[in-house]
Amino acid sequence: MTRSGLDLLRRMRRNRATPAVRSLVRETVLRPEDLIQPLFVRAGEGVSEPVESMPGVVRHTVESLVETCRHLEQVGIRAMAIFPCIEGSKKNPEGSHANASENILFSAIRAVKEACPGLAIIADVALDPYTDHGHDGLLDARGEVDNDSTVEALKKLAIAQAEAGADIVAPSDMMDGRVKAIRMALDAAGFHGTGILAYAAKYASAYYGPFRDAVKSGSGKSIPKLDKRGYQMDPGNVREALHEVKLDEEEGADMVMVKPAGPYLDIIRAVRGHTLLPVAAYQVSGEYAQIHAAARLGWLDYEATRDESLLAIKRAGADMILTYFAAEVAASLQA
Ligand code: PBG
Repeated sequence: MTRSGLDLLRRMRRNRATPAVRSLVRETVLRPEDLIQPLFVRAGEGVSEPVESMPGVVRHTVESLVETCRHLEQVGIRAMAIFPCIEGSKKNPEGSHANASENILFSAIRAVKEACPGLAIIADVALDPYTDHGHDGLLDARGEVDNDSTVEALKKLAIAQAEAGADIVAPSDMMDGRVKAIRMALDAAGFHGTGILAYAAKYASAYYGPFRDAVKSGSGKSIPKLDKRGYQMDPGNVREALHEVKLDEEEGADMVMVKPAGPYLDIIRAVRGHTLLPVAAYQVSGEYAQIHAAARLGWLDYEATRDESLLAIKRAGADMILTYFAAEVAASLQA
């Protein structure tokens, strides 16, 4: 008999009693090495341009990009994902600037590789920064994104990225067969060591809005709201995500990604259970914007919400997380 209260053998609160005990029983811990920083780069000099819908995020010049990458290394981040913002005058229906030698992406990759050789560079393989219609590929006569000709263009882009010094190429376009085609093209060009991070389960999500502002694709009044449901996945589907992962794995992907992350924790968990490959999750621009917006209104605690959002993604099964919070969270983990 206990002297007072309930007669309980198991009191879960004992393991929560002090910070020390809590730290002993903590199951999931975020490390700087888990985080990948997405960064935007544009041509030209001068000050970096802020992205209004993503507080703290800018379109870098090559110079400020390199400075930022040095800072990433200092706070313990091991990888960055680079996205170009291309001037409107260089965009066309074919996105041909993607494969132009003067594409700012290539000089940016070279500059980062030279300044920070130990930082892994992940380059996005898709045409949306370069097409005037904002889609990830080439359009057919009906205005649909044509799979096979798009894959041809993506192969060239992936090789050019590898040549510039990308460690990993990340096809984010959701065309069928692109992982195999890119693997074979890289190998044929001698880039056996360049990895492929496949955006395997990428959903047609409303959470990409601020990103499209950042790269100026599909935002603004001249381009109607982009509908990518003909190639990106239906948010209602789970089995299809596993099918996508299986195909990308068979086609030679080295890592697979789930995107978005926070609203798709069940998908991260399911994918983790079905593949032996490392699983990445992308906490996308809209997830970032939401936390900033609520914090600005004073409705959520900024740092606590930010950290919890990332811990939840890791707990769901992600081995690595692309997040716009990467640098600041890594710095706070070091502190
Ligand atoms: C495009 C691409 C997108 C993102 C990464 N690569 C947008 C899209 O598919 O329209 C979104 C990333 C984010 O929202 O942070 N290939």
